[in-house]
Amino acid sequence: MNILFVSPEVSPLVRTGGLGDVVGSLPIALKNLNLDVRILCPLHRCCKTRDVTYFEDTFQIGGRKRLLHAKLAETRLPESEVPVYFLENDFLYDRPGIYADNQGDYRDNPSRVFGLCESAMFIESITGWRPDVFHAHDWMAAPVCAFLNARDTGKGKQASVLTIHNLEHQGKGTYEDFVGSGLPPDYWGSSFDRFGEMNLLKSGIQHADKITTVSPTYAQEIRTEEFGHGLEESLKYRGADLVGILNGIDQDSWNPQFDNSLASPIDPQDPSAGKKACKIDLLREMNLPIQSEVPLFGVVSRLYKQKGLDLLLEILSALLNETKAQFVILGSGSKTEENAFLNIAKEFPDRLAAFIGFDDALARRIFAGTDFFIMPSRFEPCGLAQQYAMRYGSVPICRKTGGLADTVQPVGKSQNSANGFLFERSEPEALLEVINKAIHLFHNRKLYAEVQKNALNFPCSWECAAEEYREVYSWALSGS
Ligand code: GLC
Repeated sequence: MNILFVSPEVSPLVRTGGLGDVVGSLPIALKNLNLDVRILCPLHRCCKTRDVTYFEDTFQIGGRKRLLHAKLAETRLPESEVPVYFLENDFLYDRPGIYADNQGDYRDNPSRVFGLCESAMFIESITGWRPDVFHAHDWMAAPVCAFLNARDTGKGKQASVLTIHNLEHQGKGTYEDFVGSGLPPDYWGSSFDRFGEMNLLKSGIQHADKITTVSPTYAQEIRTEEFGHGLEESLKYRGADLVGILNGIDQDSWNPQFDNSLASPIDPQDPSAGKKACKIDLLREMNLPIQSEVPLFGVVSRLYKQKGLDLLLEILSALLNETKAQFVILGSGSKTEENAFLNIAKEFPDRLAAFIGFDDALARRIFAGTDFFIMPSRFEPCGLAQQYAMRYGSVPICRKTGGLADTVQPVGKSQNSANGFLFERSEPEALLEVINKAIHLFHNRKLYAEVQKNALNFPCSWECAAEEYREVYSWALSGS
């Protein structure tokens, strides 16, 4: 089976978040199942340093007017045989950002999306390789499903699968933007229109043969008003074709036994010496006093509403005044939250260190050096950070939602397999209560060690997910 991933991000070539990680690692697991997977991604400015080979033929995109010349350039995903086709059109993609710059979202994002999705239809004529399934990721690739349905090749069946990584981002525009796509006019009313506005993700939900999202719990949640971001009715309508498949993580790149960023390797079967060395190293790096008998909590996150770190901010002074716990925060996003963490770090320099920005190696040292990892997301389609934390022996404390509910087995309920803590209500008091429980567990060294070992040995490889995707592809092609 030939599968073409269409995505705006593919790690490590271009990444802003978890979507890039998934598109950079799932194809490798699918390849191990003998699927021929290739990836189509725009040639963003940040990808221009790669070695590529150009296809000679050019083609024209831009809806019916076909005003833009485009080219394909081929490279490979590093350390794999997975081909990546970059779509080159400098007018659309040679920009400092992927979706936005410091002025906000690019205003021509709809044209940039249509350019990418229309190009997927040229893959066969340019490369000679025919996809059986077009696998579109998120709003930026969602209209691939409409382009496929609009085209009658007269050849064998080709199918589309849409994966929703985060329903909050839908890609909005106007009727005029839609007209620019060159898609059949009746697609406006049947799929792109949502209360007079163009909605790119909705078009994918209507047109895809099958829809997946990144955890079983999220696949249920998004059919409700609370989590549906206004698309719950469309998702309920397509409910029979919608499944949740839990993301894995790249176990080679995230392996605490062979991670150069760490001060010491961590052995999942006997973690105490490695964890201790990593904790001391992290405290030293963060200029915090070394106190191994005190629990150390970590956060690695983008700072914005979805992630719920405002809940932590509300209870931090209580925690700092009433307990001895220490905290390390790495994140960026909302200036209010950034400043709030920095101010607390100034006020409690022995207890909390805050680093604003993103730093992959430091993130790894935080996963490895902390005893607990806090992730209070309001919603979380899958969440990768809690899986990275578990793999590096930091016990997760998460809100019971989406993929967090599917990966964390809470202490208390399932004692033998417990690997972390969950709280239900998205309220500061609920988070405080569960953090206090965690502190309590930390002082019961035997029990803490059991929970930590379960976290370290949580099965998070891509193998199972890849099998499930293979089934979804066959299901999509079967037409049933
Ligand atoms: C998005 C989601 C996150 C998920 C990731 C990869 O970033 O917010 O929960 O893990 O996509 O699917």
